[in-house]
Amino acid sequence: MDRHDPDNACDVSDRIEPSLSPEPPSRPRTVFIKSYGCQMNAYDAGRMADALAPEGYREVGAPEAADLVILNTCHIRERATEKVFSELGRLRDLKEARAAAGAAPLTLAVAGCVAQAEGAEIVRRQKAVDVVVGPQSYHRLPELLRQARRGSAVDTEFPLEDKLDHIALPTPRKILARGLSAFVTIQEGCDKFCSFCVVPYTRGSEVSRPPEKVLAEIEALVAAGVREVTLLGQNVNAYHGVDAAGGDWTLGRLVRRLDTLPDLLRVRYTTSHPNDMADDLIAAHRDLPSLMPFLHLPVQSGSDRILQAMNRRHRADHYRDLVRRIRAARPDIALSSDFIVGFPGETEADFQATLDLVADVTFASTFFFQYSPRHGTPGAALPDQVEETVKRDRLARLGALVEAQRHAFNAATVGRTVPVLFEKAGRRSGQLVGKSPYGQPVHVDGPAQWIGTVHDVAIDSVEANSLFGQTKGRAIAPEERELA
Ligand code: SAH
Ligand code: SF4
Ligand code: F3S
Repeated sequence: MDRHDPDNACDVSDRIEPSLSPEPPSRPRTVFIKSYGCQMNAYDAGRMADALAPEGYREVGAPEAADLVILNTCHIRERATEKVFSELGRLRDLKEARAAAGAAPLTLAVAGCVAQAEGAEIVRRQKAVDVVVGPQSYHRLPELLRQARRGSAVDTEFPLEDKLDHIALPTPRKILARGLSAFVTIQEGCDKFCSFCVVPYTRGSEVSRPPEKVLAEIEALVAAGVREVTLLGQNVNAYHGVDAAGGDWTLGRLVRRLDTLPDLLRVRYTTSHPNDMADDLIAAHRDLPSLMPFLHLPVQSGSDRILQAMNRRHRADHYRDLVRRIRAARPDIALSSDFIVGFPGETEADFQATLDLVADVTFASTFFFQYSPRHGTPGAALPDQVEETVKRDRLARLGALVEAQRHAFNAATVGRTVPVLFEKAGRRSGQLVGKSPYGQPVHVDGPAQWIGTVHDVAIDSVEANSLFGQTKGRAIAPEERELA
């Protein structure tokens, strides 16, 4: 049974007895975490590793090398959920092969949004699973692993305590090992209930972390050497943190404060909802050098009829007008978006309205999905579900348009000089890889001490999604190029 109904999603904490009794693994222990879905899951994967570090767990890069495998799952579309069960089948085989060989036992955990939605059903469907833990309770992983020695443990509660208060930040060395660009979750959950979407059920209602905690985490990251942060939230621009004095912090206020941290060179945020794009946030784009001129602003459809059926609570022209205001404040800003094709009732005229919106706005990059009916969401129960072949055809037509826009955006960078934050060495000696303000990977020859700093790069060519250019050093010859 899916748990997309809020009554069900919030109060589940069952334990299934007995089934498997893995032996306590001997120290040192190893964990492999595989994350699917959005950046919030990527952030959570790091924090799960942090929660397990005091238990002696060290992260490894493959399930074969691990005592514990955690699948950090995504429930957004049917295919995402299916992937989890096929991966679990492979891991069950690995677990059985180990047991047959008398090797160290393998413990299997399922975390993330499928864990939240399906709960104990996961263990019923795949008996090799020892632990199921939802996105709000993974600070309890050590305890759940202990419980799992006596039988599978399932925890999909939405506890009142803040899970992140129970997880210490890693050491500065470990922070930097994860890269000098870091994710920081500042807001979780969603109250919007778009009629196609499972997120309000899997992540719960909107909660903003207090600004002091966000700032303390970011200051620790920056002190360790992090130079770029991406603030995360399912609706990050609905952020309303309350400080100890009771003061309200909008996202606009928070990014203004972050702009005062001298060693934090770049700030990004994702994902935003058009209805929460407040004036103070738009003004921040106008004023703040550290706030990157790139905005992911999902609109989903260009048809007012479909937007209404999706419960998006805005019209297509509201989005066009919003984009005009954002571009007036920050003319060089680039936009990206999400679209769903084939929502129930979508006619050819509705779809054409989506193509028109894309043509009017022009995006630097865009994600586009075929509508996937999700059990328990209002959209799944609507009449007029669109035929699979029609959905596929529309997806291809939208894809052709947005891909052409993406190519044009990348091509327009050639001949320009862009500031690049260098993040790591390239594969070839002497090569560095960094990111443009728009998030495009940039490859250039330069000294290793540039890593963690920003330098102007004259872009001279583009291949796939990567830009190539030169600084004062020499240009990279085409035969030497390696894509990240
Ligand atoms: N919180 C974000 C995005 C959430 S999910 C927002 O509000 O924009 C990321 C994207 O997945 C969505 O923007 C939407 O385009 C897509 N998506 C969500 N549910 C879907 C479904 N049932 N079928 C197809 N795509 C879906
Ligand atoms: Fe899903 Fe809509 Fe919430 Fe985004 S705003 S997470 S699409 S319900
Ligand atoms: Fe997927 Fe959950 Fe993120 S459903 S997109 S992992 S919030």
